[in-house]
Amino acid sequence: MQRYRLLSGLLAFLIVTALAACGKPTASTGSEAADQKEPPASEQTSTTPGKKTLEIFSWWTGAGEEAGLLALIDLFKSKYPNVDVVNAAVAGGAGTNAKAVLASRMQGGDPPSTFQVHGGAELNDSWVAAGKMEPLNDLYESESWMDKFPKELIDLVSKDGKIYSVPVNIHRGNVLWYNKAIFEENGLTPPKTFDEFFSVAETLKQKGITPLALGDKEPWTAAHLLEDVLLGTLGPDGYRALWTGEKPFDDPDVRKALETFKRMLAYVNDDHAARNWQDAAQLVASGNAAMNIMGDWVKGYFTTDLKLKPNQDFGWAPTPGTEGVFVVVTDTFGLPKGVDHPELVKDFLKVLGSVEGQTAFNVLKGSIPARIDVDPQKFDVYGQATIEDFKRSTLVPSLAHGSAAPEGFVTQVNQAVNVFVTTGDVEQMIRTLQTAQDTLIKKK
Ligand code: GAL
Repeated sequence: MQRYRLLSGLLAFLIVTALAACGKPTASTGSEAADQKEPPASEQTSTTPGKKTLEIFSWWTGAGEEAGLLALIDLFKSKYPNVDVVNAAVAGGAGTNAKAVLASRMQGGDPPSTFQVHGGAELNDSWVAAGKMEPLNDLYESESWMDKFPKELIDLVSKDGKIYSVPVNIHRGNVLWYNKAIFEENGLTPPKTFDEFFSVAETLKQKGITPLALGDKEPWTAAHLLEDVLLGTLGPDGYRALWTGEKPFDDPDVRKALETFKRMLAYVNDDHAARNWQDAAQLVASGNAAMNIMGDWVKGYFTTDLKLKPNQDFGWAPTPGTEGVFVVVTDTFGLPKGVDHPELVKDFLKVLGSVEGQTAFNVLKGSIPARIDVDPQKFDVYGQATIEDFKRSTLVPSLAHGSAAPEGFVTQVNQAVNVFVTTGDVEQMIRTLQTAQDTLIKKK
């Protein structure tokens, strides 16, 4: 299994490197259960001589990912019909492949017009720190955005008083999705604590139902689950202290969280290593598993792609121990230095940051608008509840989605979690994470 993973990892790296060398947008890599559609050809590569081109780089291809982006592109094209839009999306959840392609292009002096990047460390400690991004304070002023986005979000995309990107959304990372019919038929309620989780999981297992769906073909999904377990065990302050280096990984609470994580892994589907996040969520949708812990891009997948009804076909709850806390995952877009038509990029960012743009995108994506003045009535019951939760909750950054710590640290965590899922070796995991914290966070 390990060897298979190493080989497939190597293969993915070679493919990504080859693609990066070409500098071309890639087609989706596909997945057996989640149908990955291609963007329309007109939006993918075509350019017309004499027309200005806007290249939008992201990892939003396929089910649960691309519908919101295509709606935003359509809106932009309706306002700027004389612009060619190239949808340069590289498949792979959480930017698994896209980030390597982007890094290669940025280093090679071939930036896309604009690219998807999470607010926080992923933006500030890499592209901003390397001097590769233009500040956008003038855009925030001219569009009167300073009081239209939550201050916490503007802070996440700022460094030294300069604002470097525009958030298109806010995803929630700490959500437990469950199959309503399975829970009702078995007289279960969504678990609020880890004890309740294990009691529900045991009941389901006794009945032959897979308790928890996981799809860690791309290891970030297991890191995502671990992040929610750490948060549920340490609470928001302890969780934050891990990524600032104030709390060490040999803390007894971290050990406890790792033991809990290990115990949870005993309740997942056998074929977890062959599935991506959509394939795992689909197990819940189809009644082949009861629960899935994942960000609310799952909501977009359930309602936009699978046409499920919130509160009927599926339910949701904060992950165990995280009631009142909101793991913020914000996708943002900025203006790299040295692009051909900076004014055109700003025109796109204006649409992306407008009420109209944020509505068109987020109703399909499963996220809530980053702006605070979008009409909640445009959103379904999940969206409306999440807009309210965001206002009331303690906000914490996601590690797995790049906001909490530098990219190098996130990579180490993903690798360590990938090993842990197979070995279950808590002590080794603590040592690896501690080394990563010492070298990549404390010595930053
Ligand atoms: C996150 C991203 C989301 C969603 C998810 C799965 O990192 O912020 O928008 O795309 O990955 O790919």
